[in-house]
Amino acid sequence: MNFVGAHIISVDQFDRAAADRVFEVADKMQPYAMRNRITRVLQGAILSNMFFEPSTRTRVSFGSAFNLLGGEVRETTEAKSSSLAKGESLYDTARVLSGYSDVIVMRHPDAGSVAKFAEASRVPVINGGDGPNEHPSQALLDLYTMRTEIAAQGQSIDGLSIALIGDLRYGRAVHSLCKLLCLYDNIRLHLISPQELALPGDIVALLKIAGHEVRQYTDMAEGIGGVDILYVTRTQEERFPSQQEADRYRGLFRLNQAIYTQNCAPNTVIMHPLPRDSRAQAQELDDDLNQNPNLAIFRQTDNGMLIRMALFALVLDVVDQVDNFAQPVTWFTDKRHG
Ligand code: CP
Repeated sequence: MNFVGAHIISVDQFDRAAADRVFEVADKMQPYAMRNRITRVLQGAILSNMFFEPSTRTRVSFGSAFNLLGGEVRETTEAKSSSLAKGESLYDTARVLSGYSDVIVMRHPDAGSVAKFAEASRVPVINGGDGPNEHPSQALLDLYTMRTEIAAQGQSIDGLSIALIGDLRYGRAVHSLCKLLCLYDNIRLHLISPQELALPGDIVALLKIAGHEVRQYTDMAEGIGGVDILYVTRTQEERFPSQQEADRYRGLFRLNQAIYTQNCAPNTVIMHPLPRDSRAQAQELDDDLNQNPNLAIFRQTDNGMLIRMALFALVLDVVDQVDNFAQPVTWFTDKRHG
C-alpha cells in the first residue's frame, strides 16, 4: 500500500504489511505522544476536522495528533453549523475544504458518505466513522492494542481467541476490526449478541474464508470463558429505527468484576472502543472493573493518539523527517500510562 497522498476510507485497503507499517510508525511516535519531545514537522499544515456526529476520542485525538506533529486544526462539529444545513452537497463541501486544508478527517452518519466526499477532495481524507459502516483508525488502534497487550503475555495476534460482545450489528468499530483480523491466522472468535444484533453475515463469511473459527452465543457467560481478549461494545442506539427498539437491548450484557472472576482466566484482557454507556440501564462494562489491571480501555485510547499521528505522518510523507524537527519540551510533563 502506498500511503503518500492516500485517502484512508476502509480497512479493505490494508494488507498485513500495511498494518505493520502503521504500527511501526506508531511506535516511533511514542516519545512525542508522551511529551518527552516535541516536533514541528507539520508546521504550516492545516487539518480540517469535520465531525457531523458526536465524538470525543476520535475528534480530539485526531486533532491533538495533528497538533503534536506541529500542524494546525480547524474544526466543524455539527452539520447544522456548516453550509450542509443550507443544502450544500458533499461534493461542493469537499472541493471547498480541500482548498483550505492539507488533510481532512470526516465523521458522517451515512455509510459511504466519507468515500463520496473523498472522491471530490483534492487532499487526503481519513474516515473518522461513516454510519454503521467502518471506523478504520479505531480498528487499527484496537489491533495495535491487542498486539501490545498480548505480547506482554508472550502471544501474537495469530492464534488469538477473542470474544466480541454486544451490538455487533451496528457497531462499525467491530466491523472494521473483524475485517482487519482477516489478515491474520487461526483466530477463534466468540460472537456474543442478541440474535437481532448479530454480526452481519457478509463479515461472518469473511472471517470464515480467512480460516478463523467462529462461534456464536446469545449467553454472555457461556461465550466469555477461555478467550484471551474480551472486546465489549455498547448498544449503538443512534443507529436503531427507534429509541424504543434500542431500549430493548440496553443492559442485556453487563460485564462486571464478579462475572469476570467467575468465567475468565485471570489475565484476560478487557477492551472497549468507548464510549461505554455508564447509565444505570446500560453499564455494559461496569465501573467496578476500573481497578482491574487487565482493563486496557485507557491504554487503548492512548494508543489512538499514536495510530493517528502515524496515519498523518504516512499520508503526508514526513515519517523520516519527524525526528529532524524534534525539540525538548519546555513545560512540566509527567504522562504516565497505565
Ligand atoms: N471510539 C470512538 O469512536 O469514540 P468517539 O465516538 O468518542 O470518537
